[in-house]
Amino acid sequence: MKFFIDTADVEAIKKAVELGMCDGVTTNPTLIMKSGKDQKSVIREIAKIVKGPISVEGIADDAPGMIKEAEEFSKWAPNIVVKVPMTKEGLKAVRYLSSKEIQTNVTLVFSASQALLAAKAGATYVSPFVGRLDDISENGMKLVADILEIFCAYDFKTEVIVASIRHPLHVVDSARMGAHIATMPADVFEKMFRHPLTDKGIAQFKDDYAKTKK
Ligand code: E4P
Repeated sequence: MKFFIDTADVEAIKKAVELGMCDGVTTNPTLIMKSGKDQKSVIREIAKIVKGPISVEGIADDAPGMIKEAEEFSKWAPNIVVKVPMTKEGLKAVRYLSSKEIQTNVTLVFSASQALLAAKAGATYVSPFVGRLDDISENGMKLVADILEIFCAYDFKTEVIVASIRHPLHVVDSARMGAHIATMPADVFEKMFRHPLTDKGIAQFKDDYAKTKK
């Protein structure tokens, strides 16, 4: 299973890279805004430290506009993946970009039918947004299970990026289902390491070790 970091915060990405746990990065306009930098410079900075796929999102509404943005983003680094919204125009762009071997990530996927359409269009990745579904009392992880079942049944090559992750259990459930990738905010990645019994155990062992040195 691959771990992507869902942020444009270069320092957070560096920490995950140092741990050898950053297989890729996903960004969106909101995350770029939070970084306080302009999109091109921050993506180029990230590309210097991350070898895996880096998803970059544009704002065009129609396929020609999306293709133009994609061609521009692709010049920034060899590992750029172009995020395309789950719309008819988006899928037209995906079909064209896939014929040009530009990798795509169909974003804002909220149903299995949308994921199926994206796979048929030739998307490299689809991103179901589990947290945003949970937020409106729908079951985000059930959607991931449905998409994986469909992709598996037809041997689609499209990989599933579980996105809009809110907590470590989303990552664990993604892993149990065999999702290809989980893209997680830095704080969720951080939380995956922690357990109070680990901290308590370390403290106790240190205390006991000190007692042997009297
Ligand atoms: C994924 O590619 C998106 O950037 C992200 O996961 C959206 O998450 P949010 O719902 O927390 O904004």
